[in-house]
Formats: sequence, C-alpha cells, structure tokens
Amino acid sequence: MTRYSRVIGTGGYLPEEIRTNEHISNTVDTSDSWIFERTGIKSRHIAAKHETASSMAEIAARQAIAAAACDLEDIDIIIVATGTPDRVYPSTGCLLQQRLGIKNCVAFDIQAACSGSIFALSIADQYIKSGAAKKVLVVGTEICSRIVDWTDRSTCILFGDGAGAVLLAVSEETGILSTHIHSDGEYEDLLYCPNPQVATDANGQQAGYINMRGNEVFKVAVNTLGRIVDETLEANNMDKSEIDWLVPHQANIRIIAATAKKLKMSMDQVVVTLETQGNTSSASVLLAFNEAVRDGRIQRGQVVLLEAFGAGFTWGSALIRY
Ligand code: ACO
Repeated sequence: MTRYSRVIGTGGYLPEEIRTNEHISNTVDTSDSWIFERTGIKSRHIAAKHETASSMAEIAARQAIAAAACDLEDIDIIIVATGTPDRVYPSTGCLLQQRLGIKNCVAFDIQAACSGSIFALSIADQYIKSGAAKKVLVVGTEICSRIVDWTDRSTCILFGDGAGAVLLAVSEETGILSTHIHSDGEYEDLLYCPNPQVATDANGQQAGYINMRGNEVFKVAVNTLGRIVDETLEANNMDKSEIDWLVPHQANIRIIAATAKKLKMSMDQVVVTLETQGNTSSASVLLAFNEAVRDGRIQRGQVVLLEAFGAGFTWGSALIRY
C-alpha cells in the first residue's frame, strides 16, 4: 500500500486583544498608511498575560482533533513548531501533551522560525509514510509580542500572536504529495533573536528581541520562495496551472504577491490573513490553511501549495492534495 499523510482536521486560535496600526503609531514614529502600504498589515492579535504558546496550542489542537473526530489516545506523535516556547524545557510539545492528557505518545518541538510549521509537516509526513506513525498532530504556536521590542518601529509593526494546528492520518488516498525543506546558516546576522539568559551573542546583544535587516531579508525571501516553487512543481511533474490554492507564510503582502505572480495565480487563489493577523511566525501557514478550510474555500481534492521562509535562513514547501 502506498501510504499518504492526509489532513483529517484543522484548528486555529487567535488571542482576543487586537492591536491596530493606529495603536502602534501612538508609541513609535510610524503611521497606518506606511505600515499598510509596505506590509499589508492593519492589525494583529496580542496574547493576554496568562496565555502561553502551549495554552494557545491546546485550543488550536483541540479544534483540529474535534474536526477529525479523533480519539486522543490514537495520536502517536505531537510536533510543535515554536520560537517562543513556554520554557526552555520541557518542550512545548510535552506541555501540550500534558494539557491534552495523552499518555502514550511522543512529543517534541522543532525550531525553524517562520518556516517551523512546514518543517514540522515534513517530519510528520516522513513518520507516516514510513509506517512508523498513524496519526500525527502538528501545531505552530507563537507569542511573538513577547520577543518584539515595542520601541523598534522596523520590527514591532510586523508580528502577532496565535496558533494553528493540523491532524494528519495515514491514508491510501492522496494527501501530502511532497515536502521540501532547506536551511542556510550563513544569514544569521540578517535575522535573529538572542537568548539572553543563556549567552551573550557575538554582537554583544543582550536583549531577547527580534533583530532584522528587513530590506535584505525581503530580497532573499522573494528569490528563495521563487526557487522553492520551481523545486516543488518539478518534483511532482506538475504545471503551475494545476495548483488551486497558495497558502503562504504571512510576512509581507509584497513577498506573497511576488510568489503568486511567479505561479501566474490571481490573488483570489491566495489565502491572505496578514491584514488582520500580521506575521505569526510558525503559526501563520497553519492559521491561514485552517481559515480557508473552515470557510469552504479549500475543498477536498484540490491542490494546495504551502510555503514559508524565515530566520536561519530556513525555507520550505508542502504540496497537499486536500
Ligand atoms: N514606519 C515608518 N518608517 C519606517 C518604518 C515604520 N514602521 N520602519 C522603517 N521605516 C523607514 C526606515 O527607517 C527607512 O527610512 P530611510 O529611507 O530614511 O532610511 C525606510 O522606512 C525604508 O526602510 P526599509 O527597511 O528599506 O523598508 P522596506 O520597504 O524594506 O520595508 C519591511 C520594511 C516591511 C520590514 C520589509 O523589508 C519586510 O517585510 N522584510 C521581510 C520580512 C520577512 O520576511 N522576514 C522573514 C520572516 S520573520 C521570521 O523568521 C521571524
């Protein structure tokens, strides 16, 4: 039997508080029009004090599990992608396992910044295809607002909080067609977040905030995402026209539009959540996917291209027949 990883449930969670561009322009020198024109963002959700990556992950995960009508005890693996874990350890995956009350599964985190959910999907797919697991829960969850310097206008306008989840199950019907993941550690200086409790990094940077040379990151992101589109299509011997939906990482509308153009896709075929969510890092692709599944845009049998680019640099794609 050919084994595929099929999406059997999706979920998402966004915190209640909404922080608009106007809010931010009261504290740093920026404006709603600058932010919207350069990024496509109007507002983002901000987690409450009591919320954590694992508490948000639990809500998204329970939604995906309910949508799949899956027994908790049937889940073999929990993979959580996050750059903002509750604790250095235990992993957010283990904390989520505890919250869900699942005894007999393995749980762990992966860290690939904004590409985290694609990396997690890729790992999950390998376990399912090989026969080592039957059901894998993949969650991307981030409290970016806690690693953003709210006095730095070049980064604080971009990020938001949230969690997205998918439950994958082994199936003879097609599901994930292929995944492609890459890393290049040469670009550390362009985008990084120090861990001040552990070490002072090479730049002497102490504060644990996101540092980004946005303009340079932008150029690499556009080129790299163009290449991952070609790689994915070639691996599946597929033409651009066969893709029904693009579900991109939500960093900047201009990056998203460049990828859509490369695919000769109209923006109507692109799932965009950026305007109201900002960049939720490893949660963004799964949040967007969940939204378009739940509102009925993405239909069973359609071909969906998920892609992301983030710190590392890391980048990747997952081609799914939903
Ligand atoms: N409001 C007003 N002016 C601003 C702001 C702001 N919020 N931020 C920067 N500016 C100014 C700059 O100071 C600069 O002024 P100058 O010309 O006088 O020097 C000017 O605007 C242009 O700045 P750029 O940085 O060149 O602006 P750009 O058009 O590149 O937009 C942005 C910046 C939105 C950050 C863009 O570069 C971007 O989206 N980059 C990619 C981000 C990304 O994809 N990251 C990867 C994922 S994140 C992760 O992995 C954690």
